[in-house]
Amino acid sequence: MTKKRTSYICTACGNEYNKWLGKCPACGEWNSIVEAAPNVKKETTHEVIPLAEVHFNGHERISTAIDEYNLVCGGGMVPGSVILIGGEPGIGKSTLALQIAASLKTVYLSGEESPIQIKQRSERLGINGESIHVSTNTNVDSIIHMIENEKPECVIVDSVQTLYLSDVPGLIGSVSQIKESTSRIAEIAKKKNIPFILIGHITKDGSIAGPKQLEHLVDTVLYFEGDFSKEFRILRAFKNRFGSINEIGLFAMTEKGLKEVKDKNIFINPFSSDAPGNAVSAALEGSRILLFEVQSLVTWTSFTNPRRMADGFDLNRLTLIIAVLEKHAQLKLSNFDVFINVAGGFQIDEPSADLAVAMAITSSLKNKPIPSGIGFIAEISLSGELRPTSQCQRRVLDLGRSGFHTVILSQKNYTEAKQATFSGDIVGLDTIAKAIEYIF
Ligand code: TYD
Ligand code: MG
Repeated sequence: MTKKRTSYICTACGNEYNKWLGKCPACGEWNSIVEAAPNVKKETTHEVIPLAEVHFNGHERISTAIDEYNLVCGGGMVPGSVILIGGEPGIGKSTLALQIAASLKTVYLSGEESPIQIKQRSERLGINGESIHVSTNTNVDSIIHMIENEKPECVIVDSVQTLYLSDVPGLIGSVSQIKESTSRIAEIAKKKNIPFILIGHITKDGSIAGPKQLEHLVDTVLYFEGDFSKEFRILRAFKNRFGSINEIGLFAMTEKGLKEVKDKNIFINPFSSDAPGNAVSAALEGSRILLFEVQSLVTWTSFTNPRRMADGFDLNRLTLIIAVLEKHAQLKLSNFDVFINVAGGFQIDEPSADLAVAMAITSSLKNKPIPSGIGFIAEISLSGELRPTSQCQRRVLDLGRSGFHTVILSQKNYTEAKQATFSGDIVGLDTIAKAIEYIF
């Protein structure tokens, strides 16, 4: 006869052990290990169904009144999907959720705020709240009954960290509770065909029990990012079973809540364009083009190893561009500290920003501004060549629409870019040295 094995689980980090311990060796938490509930799988029959008979409703979409949100979801929310919105505390997740709720028959489950606080926020946002029902009960079992009675079009859970199940070990907020609650919510969502929006806090260090561990349990993961000192917020799709990832939505946090940003030039500071060290480029973010400005400061170093710092750009890539500038454009940067910053708290991951970064550094080193109205789009190879970028026509077009009269890009992009309806000059060059020569 086989002996029944008991297993133990840490309610703080989710690690499993075969014996009880006072302190979890993995996360260092005391008294967090409890006996795991037996894994009860009730299904004993094994049913298979023809794939042709499986009904998929991914083509139906629920549109909210917020276009930027619909875009990031892939054209509205899919009924029955679970959407996780993660972000640091205070970034504006609850505000966004309430604004989404305003146009749908929604149940807003809040484990963090009282109905009075939600009411106050809705008044500030100018939402009358007729379509919204609120509750502070975050017990997952009772959510099922609530749905039967309310029949909502959408359910918002603020936050996923406050969900709990009575039959799962661990305190509210522990990994075991959050994970189990989320997977049960996913089942409910699919069964009832209602979209669930789960809000999850993350801390800067990617915290324990954070939404990171839930990514595989939900259909869509959106991150709400931004700089607290600045008004702009970016909603970014990180995972989407029903749409493209890397899609972004742009918002500005105002006195009256989040406003959708339609103007794509928000990351360009028009007043700094005459100063040395600034260069503008166009990045492809999801399905749209965003113009942004790279700012650079090159100063004489007082260290043996000069400093290189990048905000909004990859530091390794910056080091590489500096090396290319030294080797192929004969710039002497080894005695200079180099700092670069992408204006507006924007993060650029595209190699097409290379040329703008190189030009901003050169401009600061030479203390000569880049004449206004010039945009740069090219990747730089290790041999100092300007490499082509995808969708260059659209980038040129967007620069043109924003008043840029010249675009400098790779020679290999020239023929394609020329076909864009752009009335300014398109300059195709093959090396970084030639681009520097052209401008300075
Ligand atoms: P909140 O949505 O509560 O953030 P989260 O749920 O992510 O923790 O809002 C965060 C900040 O936004 C808060 O500091 C106040 C500010 N805010 C505005 O500036 N305008 C507004 O209309 C609202 C509702 C909030
Ligand atoms: Mg909140």
